[in-house]
Amino acid sequence: MRLICRTGCALLFAAICFLDLQAQALANVTGPCANCHTMHNSQAGALVSSVNRARLLTSDCVGCHSSSSADTIVQLGSTRIPIVYNTAAPPVNELAGGNFHWVAKNGHQYGHNVRGISPPDSFLAIGPGGENLQCGNSCHQSFSLPDTGFGRNGCEGCHGSVKHHGASVVAGQPVTAAEGWYRFLMAPSSHSGFGLTQGVAGIEDPNWEQTPTSAQHNIYFGGDGTAAQSPRSLNKFCASCHAKFHAPGFFESGGLTVDNGGGVNPWLRHPTNYAIPNKGEFAPLFATPYNPAVPVAKPVLTSYQAAKIEIGDQVSCVSCHRAHGSPYPDMLRWDYTAMKAHDGGSASGTGCFFCHTAKDS
Ligand code: HEC
Ligand code: HEC
Ligand code: HEC
Ligand code: HEC
Ligand code: HEC
Ligand code: HEC
Repeated sequence: MRLICRTGCALLFAAICFLDLQAQALANVTGPCANCHTMHNSQAGALVSSVNRARLLTSDCVGCHSSSSADTIVQLGSTRIPIVYNTAAPPVNELAGGNFHWVAKNGHQYGHNVRGISPPDSFLAIGPGGENLQCGNSCHQSFSLPDTGFGRNGCEGCHGSVKHHGASVVAGQPVTAAEGWYRFLMAPSSHSGFGLTQGVAGIEDPNWEQTPTSAQHNIYFGGDGTAAQSPRSLNKFCASCHAKFHAPGFFESGGLTVDNGGGVNPWLRHPTNYAIPNKGEFAPLFATPYNPAVPVAKPVLTSYQAAKIEIGDQVSCVSCHRAHGSPYPDMLRWDYTAMKAHDGGSASGTGCFFCHTAKDS
């Protein structure tokens, strides 16, 4: 069997070369080394890739995690690749983070602009809500810029703990540091002075929510939401660049204290990391199944029911947004223009109306 095809994009061509189907594993890579590495960057006397890459890789983050098909999990023999950028057609079933297809094709407001996919945002000079972080030329400004001494841009602006050969994630258990944290999400080590020494906590759906159900989905960690806490919630991770949008503001140790402009009053922005009250229009939520289209965060990861929204479950940034990009402006999970007060129509029960049950009719 040929290990490497002769073209630059060895990995995509390798799909034709490999056909050894094995059991699926969680979160660390599987499959022959040659699916992803090249020892001499040479095959049959020709270059495998015109770019010299670290770790003897045949491709980079964007290259491996892209596909010209509409599939979001590409199977190369026993290697299973989660796709976050469908380059031609939009994805059939986008993964939990959404997809970079729309920011590349529809415009800058449809996602985070990332190096290798789209140029810096033409409307936003920095991440909104991060004005007081004052970090020039960093990933607080744009992931499309070159790396800086203080941190990486590109995919690694958020995925600061990439461990493809990390320890195997135990199904149903929170992801540990040795496993690379939840989806490899962590601030770079250069930020440890701000107390950002640990990554994001969470429990991973083995199929990256390609087809989530009320019982089988990612479990987002909410935590206490109010003070420095490590490992951190995904909300506080988003807030490390969008500080003011976190309620009640964002706080980490090490001298970086940023509130949302309202001090202890969290109500200047939509609450996040905030327990949904079991009363009024929210009470019906606690009698409906968990809805992976409008996820909420669990306050602790040791005891919870996946299939239900429980007392204490919190509003999260990803209740409304996708992390990478979506078909809607502001990377929203749903079409905001369809959320019409007391005129929900076919949007009833979705988006804002899923939680604000009394505002649709
Ligand atoms: C050579 C191909 C290749 C390259 C290069 C690569 N990845 Fe991956 N990546 C994979 C595969 C395959 C998986 C799926 C592992 C599994 O089965 O869980 C994966 C998984 C992931 C995941 C999901 C982990 C999880 O918890 O499920 C993230 C996030 C990720 N990669 C980010 C990156 C980033 C960021 C880079 C660049 C620094 C990168 N990858 C480079 C092939 C690659
Ligand atoms: C599906 C893709 C994939 C396969 C298959 C794969 N690797 Fe890797 N490997 C990566 C990626 C991506 C990185 C760089 C990012 C990282 O370290 O997470 C990496 C990094 C490494 C590193 C340096 C970092 C470390 O963890 O030590 C070594 C050594 C390595 N691979 C060896 C191997 C060997 C040996 C095999 C076969 C037995 C193999 N890899 C198979 C994707 C893969
Ligand atoms: C490391 C810094 C960083 C982190 C972490 C981060 N963002 Fe951003 N975000 C930015 C920057 C920079 C921009 C402006 C440039 C752009 O849109 O590409 C932005 C823009 C946005 C936008 C506006 C998109 C648009 O173009 O209109 C939304 C919405 C957003 N982010 C949501 C989130 C969410 C939700 C999370 C957590 C899952 C998150 N961000 C995490 C840096 C970050
Ligand atoms: C703004 C921060 C940010 C940037 C930039 C970013 N990611 Fe992610 N990524 C996330 C978050 C947050 C998740 C988890 C989404 C969830 O579970 O809701 C994620 C999840 C993933 C996954 C797992 C599949 C999924 O959708 O859950 C892969 C693979 C991945 N990212 C790869 C990449 C690659 C490749 C790039 C660069 C092209 C990239 N990411 C850029 C924040 C980011
Ligand atoms: C209740 C739903 C909801 C939650 C929760 C939410 N957002 Fe938003 N976000 C929106 C909507 C809707 C917009 C569109 C603009 C508006 O209405 O303010 C938006 C816009 C944004 C923008 C773009 C602002 C601009 O100036 O273009 C960013 C950045 C953002 N959100 C980040 C976050 C972060 C970070 C969190 C978590 C701390 C979060 N959002 C939580 C619904 C939400
Ligand atoms: C995941 C559930 C959830 C979603 C989705 C959601 N909200 Fe909320 N919203 C809440 C909770 C919880 C509160 C706080 C209620 C309380 O304690 O009084 C709130 C409060 C509000 C408030 C009142 C703030 C105040 O100062 O009293 C407004 C306005 C609002 N939401 C609008 C929206 C809009 C518009 C959307 C869709 C873009 C939306 N919400 C989506 C849960 C949600």
